[in-house]
Amino acid sequence: MDSGLAKVILEFSYLIAALSFIFGLKMMSHPRTARRGNAVAAAGMGVAILATILYLVMEDLMPMTNLGLIIAGLGIGSVAGTWAARKVPMTAMPQMVSLFNGMGGACVALISLVEVYHFHPETWDLYAYLEYGSILLGTLIGSISFSGSIIAWGKLEGKISDKWARIKGINIMNALLLLVTLGYGLYIWINGDLEFFKVLIFFGLAILYGITFVLPIGGADMPVVISLLNSFTGTAAAFAGFAYDNMAMIIGGILVGSAGTLLTILMTRAMNRSLMNVLLGAIVGGGSATDEEGEKTIKEVTPQDAAIMLAYANKVIFVPGYGLAVAQAQHALHELEKLLEERGVDVKYAIHPVAGRMPGHMNVLLAEADVPYDKLLELEQANQEFPTTDVVVIIGANDVVNPAAEQDPSSPIYGMPILQAYKAKNVIVIKRSLRPGYAGIDNPLFYMDNTRMLFADAKKAIEEIIKAIQEL
Ligand code: TAP
Repeated sequence: MDSGLAKVILEFSYLIAALSFIFGLKMMSHPRTARRGNAVAAAGMGVAILATILYLVMEDLMPMTNLGLIIAGLGIGSVAGTWAARKVPMTAMPQMVSLFNGMGGACVALISLVEVYHFHPETWDLYAYLEYGSILLGTLIGSISFSGSIIAWGKLEGKISDKWARIKGINIMNALLLLVTLGYGLYIWINGDLEFFKVLIFFGLAILYGITFVLPIGGADMPVVISLLNSFTGTAAAFAGFAYDNMAMIIGGILVGSAGTLLTILMTRAMNRSLMNVLLGAIVGGGSATDEEGEKTIKEVTPQDAAIMLAYANKVIFVPGYGLAVAQAQHALHELEKLLEERGVDVKYAIHPVAGRMPGHMNVLLAEADVPYDKLLELEQANQEFPTTDVVVIIGANDVVNPAAEQDPSSPIYGMPILQAYKAKNVIVIKRSLRPGYAGIDNPLFYMDNTRMLFADAKKAIEEIIKAIQEL
């Protein structure tokens, strides 16, 4: 086959892939089109992979044994990925994202290492240095992303504790390790040293730094870390794409890198914290609110009394949190919403950007239960509405409604914007106990005059409230 034509087909396929990444990403910005967006971007990636294989086969650039290996790899990866994605519960999605991201980082690091093996510039001109620099950066960032993501996964799974954050001087040790790693990388780059063993040491240092970088960061900050690592993987892929001269990798990498960076910025803004603060100042629980444990009293409410409060209210706002996902109570909650609306109650949902365990967690859950999007209030809108709300029902949320974030400068979450549910006339909190939420700190809201606690599994409690309203 005409070599020029094969190249044109390849470049055209990459253009289609790049466009599908861009449109897919755009569609993912709205829950209504997000699923299709994901499929469009995945199809684009499929086109890029197939076109690359086809090109190498048509140009006779690849031994047949490699083709067998690639097909086997594609088969194993597709089966494992599909199986894992179908099996994983919604509550464990962040862990899965972290693992997938780690695999992406590992891929880029390995591709970059293989490139070292292939890289033999005739002269060490500017282009050769740039290409070698890209290879080393791909190795560095991909490795950090790989090992960091695995540690983030362990933290989200509860397999790795936050005790590392308490080790004195760990951040200084990390800064030193980073300096050593960068210094060493610079040394082999400037010397154009392609000795594989030396690059392997660089790879090892980067892996080690990825581990020690994430270990001391608090579990509650993992979403920010995962999206930061996601942007690392994208950037590393773009560097590897440059070294590989592969346009699809460059464009895909830049898109993932910039989307990850934007998401990181949005999440730190939602928590009102700087990225430095997230990386250096772990939330490991303990705030001062627990100090006065003995003096505090709570008021409880039964599902029957809660039903009366809700049925005779004019305006009700639901605040969903992680517990809603655990209890899988979204369908029951939608039922309750419809029942109340039939009785003329105005019902809305207040969504905190970091409620749950992943960005958009509550939106996805509520969309699954067919809750109309126009019923969802964002943080600022909700905060304007709370003072005129008769009853706020908090369903398995805790940190995102904790007034300590506004009122207690010694609280580890001080400064994080919260849903000001405490400003409503009445607050009902549905959870199973007084146990703290993700940040591990007590919540003064539970002890306020206008708050009633309903201790139960969220789904069970809502079903009982529904039953009680139907019997009114
Ligand atoms: P949390 O503060 O974690 O509180 C969830 C509450 O749900 C817990 O206090 C728990 O209390 C209750 N719960 C658990 N299972 C329940 C069930 N079956 N029925 C009823 N209640 C149940 O959740 P939140 O308010 O959504 O805040 C999210 C937190 O996670 C923030 O600190 C955030 O920074 C962090 N985080 C967020 C993300 C993203 S991106 N969304 C990712 C990782 C971490 P009981 O045990 O007493 O029932």
